[in-house]
Amino acid sequence: MKSFDKLLLENKAWSEEKKAVDPEFFLAMAKTQTPEFLWIGCSDSRVPAEIIVNAEPGEIFIHRNIANQIIETDFNCLSVVQYAVSVLEVEHIIVCGHYNCGGIRAALDKQSPNLVITNKWLMHIKDIYRFHKQEIDALPTEDQRVNRLVELNIIEQVKTLSHTSIIQNAWYKHQRPTIHGWVYGLADGLLHPLVTLYPDTEIDPIYKYDFQTS
Ligand code: CO
Repeated sequence: MKSFDKLLLENKAWSEEKKAVDPEFFLAMAKTQTPEFLWIGCSDSRVPAEIIVNAEPGEIFIHRNIANQIIETDFNCLSVVQYAVSVLEVEHIIVCGHYNCGGIRAALDKQSPNLVITNKWLMHIKDIYRFHKQEIDALPTEDQRVNRLVELNIIEQVKTLSHTSIIQNAWYKHQRPTIHGWVYGLADGLLHPLVTLYPDTEIDPIYKYDFQTS
Protein backbone atom coordinates (compact mmCIF):
# COMPACT_ATOMS: atom_id res chain seq x y z
CA MET A 1 0.00 0.00 0.00
CA LYS A 2 1.25 3.49 -0.87
CA SER A 3 1.65 5.94 1.99
CA PHE A 4 -1.11 8.18 0.67
CA ASP A 5 -3.49 5.22 0.28
CA LYS A 6 -3.14 4.71 4.02
CA LEU A 7 -4.41 8.26 4.58
CA LEU A 8 -7.55 7.57 2.50
CA LEU A 9 -8.10 4.28 4.27
CA GLU A 10 -7.67 5.88 7.70
CA ASN A 11 -10.12 8.59 6.69
CA LYS A 12 -12.76 6.01 5.80
CA ALA A 13 -12.27 4.26 9.15
CA TRP A 14 -12.44 7.58 11.04
CA SER A 15 -15.66 8.59 9.28
CA GLU A 16 -17.22 5.21 10.10
CA GLU A 17 -16.19 5.48 13.74
CA LYS A 18 -17.70 8.96 14.07
CA LYS A 19 -20.96 7.82 12.48
CA ALA A 20 -21.10 4.75 14.73
CA VAL A 21 -20.97 6.99 17.82
CA ASP A 22 -23.28 9.66 16.41
CA PRO A 23 -25.11 9.03 13.09
CA GLU A 24 -25.93 12.76 12.83
CA PHE A 25 -22.31 13.91 13.38
CA PHE A 26 -21.52 14.96 9.80
CA LEU A 27 -25.07 16.07 8.96
CA ALA A 28 -24.97 18.62 11.79
CA MET A 29 -21.37 19.60 10.94
CA ALA A 30 -22.12 20.20 7.25
CA LYS A 31 -24.70 22.91 7.99
CA THR A 32 -22.53 25.52 9.68
CA GLN A 33 -19.44 26.22 11.76
CA THR A 34 -19.42 28.18 15.01
CA PRO A 35 -15.87 27.87 16.35
CA GLU A 36 -15.03 29.84 19.49
CA PHE A 37 -11.31 29.91 18.71
CA LEU A 38 -8.97 31.05 15.97
CA TRP A 39 -5.64 29.24 16.15
CA ILE A 40 -2.55 30.69 14.47
CA GLY A 41 0.20 28.10 14.75
CA CYS A 42 3.39 26.82 13.17
CA SER A 43 3.15 24.50 10.14
CA ASP A 44 5.39 21.99 11.98
CA SER A 45 3.86 18.51 11.67
CA ARG A 46 4.55 17.87 15.36
CA VAL A 47 2.17 20.60 16.52
CA PRO A 48 -1.24 19.54 15.17
CA ALA A 49 -3.63 22.06 16.73
CA GLU A 50 -6.77 19.96 17.24
CA ILE A 51 -4.92 16.87 18.44
CA ILE A 52 -2.90 18.58 21.20
CA VAL A 53 -6.02 20.18 22.72
CA ASN A 54 -8.26 17.18 22.02
CA ALA A 55 -10.69 19.23 19.92
CA GLU A 56 -13.34 18.01 17.49
CA PRO A 57 -14.05 19.27 13.96
CA GLY A 58 -15.92 22.59 14.19
CA GLU A 59 -14.22 23.79 17.36
CA ILE A 60 -11.18 25.69 16.03
CA PHE A 61 -10.66 27.87 12.94
CA ILE A 62 -7.03 27.39 11.93
CA HIS A 63 -4.23 29.19 10.13
CA ARG A 64 -0.71 27.77 10.16
CA ASN A 65 2.49 29.04 8.59
CA ILE A 66 6.23 28.73 9.20
CA ALA A 67 6.96 30.08 12.70
CA ASN A 68 3.36 31.21 13.40
CA GLN A 69 3.73 34.73 12.07
CA ILE A 70 1.23 37.53 11.60
CA ILE A 71 2.70 39.83 8.94
CA GLU A 72 0.74 42.99 8.13
CA THR A 73 1.18 42.55 4.36
CA ASP A 74 0.23 38.86 4.33
CA PHE A 75 -3.33 38.79 2.99
CA ASN A 76 -3.55 35.06 3.58
CA CYS A 77 -3.24 35.35 7.35
CA LEU A 78 -5.12 38.68 7.54
CA SER A 79 -8.06 37.24 5.57
CA VAL A 80 -8.27 34.39 8.05
CA VAL A 81 -8.16 36.84 10.97
CA GLN A 82 -10.80 39.10 9.41
CA TYR A 83 -13.16 36.22 8.61
CA ALA A 84 -12.70 34.69 12.07
CA VAL A 85 -13.28 37.99 13.89
CA SER A 86 -15.94 39.63 11.71
CA VAL A 87 -17.98 36.66 10.48
CA LEU A 88 -17.36 33.75 12.85
CA GLU A 89 -17.11 36.18 15.80
CA VAL A 90 -14.49 34.11 17.64
CA GLU A 91 -14.03 34.94 21.32
CA HIS A 92 -10.36 33.97 21.45
CA ILE A 93 -7.34 34.02 19.16
CA ILE A 94 -4.49 31.72 20.15
CA VAL A 95 -1.04 32.33 18.68
CA CYS A 96 0.80 29.10 19.37
CA GLY A 97 4.52 28.67 18.80
CA HIS A 98 6.70 25.79 19.92
CA TYR A 99 10.14 25.23 21.37
CA ASN A 100 12.86 24.04 18.99
CA CYS A 101 11.06 25.65 16.03
CA GLY A 102 13.01 25.06 12.80
CA GLY A 103 11.89 28.43 11.40
CA ILE A 104 13.23 30.28 14.43
CA ARG A 105 16.46 28.27 14.36
CA ALA A 106 16.92 29.11 10.66
CA ALA A 107 16.26 32.81 11.35
CA LEU A 108 19.24 32.80 13.73
CA ASP A 109 21.46 31.44 10.97
CA LYS A 110 22.82 32.85 7.70
CA GLN A 111 20.46 33.17 4.73
CA SER A 112 20.41 30.14 2.47
CA PRO A 113 20.77 30.73 -1.31
CA ASN A 114 18.68 27.59 -1.89
CA LEU A 115 15.72 28.91 0.09
CA VAL A 116 15.35 32.52 -0.99
CA ILE A 117 11.58 32.63 -0.53
CA THR A 118 11.66 30.98 2.90
CA ASN A 119 14.46 33.39 3.87
CA LYS A 120 12.18 36.33 3.12
CA TRP A 121 9.42 34.84 5.25
CA LEU A 122 11.87 34.62 8.18
CA MET A 123 13.09 38.22 7.82
CA HIS A 124 10.73 39.56 10.51
CA ILE A 125 12.07 37.03 12.99
CA LYS A 126 15.58 38.28 12.34
CA ASP A 127 14.22 41.74 13.25
CA ILE A 128 12.85 40.42 16.55
CA TYR A 129 16.28 38.91 17.28
CA ARG A 130 17.87 42.28 16.52
CA PHE A 131 15.53 44.06 18.99
CA HIS A 132 16.46 41.56 21.74
CA LYS A 133 20.03 40.74 20.66
CA GLN A 134 21.59 41.52 24.04
CA GLU A 135 19.23 39.28 26.02
CA ILE A 136 19.41 36.40 23.52
CA ASP A 137 23.18 36.50 23.00
CA ALA A 138 23.69 36.36 26.79
CA LEU A 139 22.20 32.84 26.89
CA PRO A 140 24.86 30.11 27.03
CA THR A 141 23.55 27.50 24.56
CA GLU A 142 22.10 27.60 21.06
CA ASP A 143 18.98 25.72 22.22
CA GLN A 144 18.35 28.34 24.91
CA ARG A 145 18.82 31.17 22.39
CA VAL A 146 16.40 29.50 19.95
CA ASN A 147 13.82 28.86 22.66
CA ARG A 148 13.96 32.42 24.00
CA LEU A 149 13.46 33.75 20.47
CA VAL A 150 10.54 31.31 20.10
CA GLU A 151 8.92 33.00 23.13
CA LEU A 152 9.76 36.55 22.03
CA ASN A 153 8.36 35.80 18.56
CA ILE A 154 5.03 34.65 20.02
CA ILE A 155 4.80 37.81 22.17
CA GLU A 156 5.63 39.95 19.11
CA GLN A 157 2.99 38.23 16.93
CA VAL A 158 0.32 38.77 19.59
CA LYS A 159 1.26 42.47 19.67
CA THR A 160 1.17 42.66 15.86
CA LEU A 161 -2.41 41.34 15.92
CA SER A 162 -3.36 44.15 18.31
CA HIS A 163 -1.91 46.66 15.83
CA THR A 164 -4.35 45.62 13.07
CA SER A 165 -7.54 47.57 12.35
CA ILE A 166 -9.43 44.25 12.45
CA ILE A 167 -8.62 43.67 16.12
CA GLN A 168 -8.84 47.29 17.26
CA ASN A 169 -12.24 47.68 15.58
CA ALA A 170 -13.55 44.47 17.19
CA TRP A 171 -12.20 45.49 20.60
CA TYR A 172 -13.85 48.91 20.30
CA LYS A 173 -17.22 47.66 19.04
CA HIS A 174 -17.61 44.19 20.57
CA GLN A 175 -15.05 43.86 23.41
CA ARG A 176 -13.67 40.70 21.80
CA PRO A 177 -11.55 38.72 21.01
CA THR A 178 -9.03 38.03 23.75
CA ILE A 179 -5.61 37.24 22.26
CA HIS A 180 -3.46 34.54 23.82
CA GLY A 181 0.21 33.72 23.21
CA TRP A 182 1.05 30.11 24.04
CA VAL A 183 4.18 28.01 23.61
CA TYR A 184 4.14 24.24 23.09
CA GLY A 185 6.83 21.88 24.31
CA LEU A 186 7.65 19.17 21.76
CA ALA A 187 9.38 17.16 24.49
CA ASP A 188 6.46 16.98 26.94
CA GLY A 189 3.37 17.77 24.83
CA LEU A 190 2.38 20.64 27.12
CA LEU A 191 1.13 24.14 26.32
CA HIS A 192 2.30 27.10 28.41
CA PRO A 193 0.55 30.51 28.35
CA LEU A 194 3.03 33.38 27.85
CA VAL A 195 0.92 36.47 27.30
CA THR A 196 -2.77 37.51 27.19
CA LEU A 197 -4.13 40.69 25.61
CA TYR A 198 -7.66 41.57 26.73
CA PRO A 199 -9.91 43.87 24.68
CA ASP A 200 -9.23 46.80 27.03
CA THR A 201 -5.45 46.63 26.42
CA GLU A 202 -3.88 50.04 25.87
CA ILE A 203 -2.24 50.18 22.43
CA ASP A 204 0.99 52.10 21.85
CA PRO A 205 -0.22 55.40 20.25
CA ILE A 206 1.81 54.99 17.05
CA TYR A 207 -0.12 51.76 16.28
CA LYS A 208 -3.51 53.04 17.35
CA TYR A 209 -6.56 53.60 15.12
CA ASP A 210 -8.82 56.33 16.46
CA PHE A 211 -12.27 54.92 15.76
CA GLN A 212 -14.04 57.57 17.89
CA THR A 213 -13.09 60.48 15.66
CA SER A 214 -12.87 58.80 12.27
CO1 CO B 1 7.95 25.67 14.01
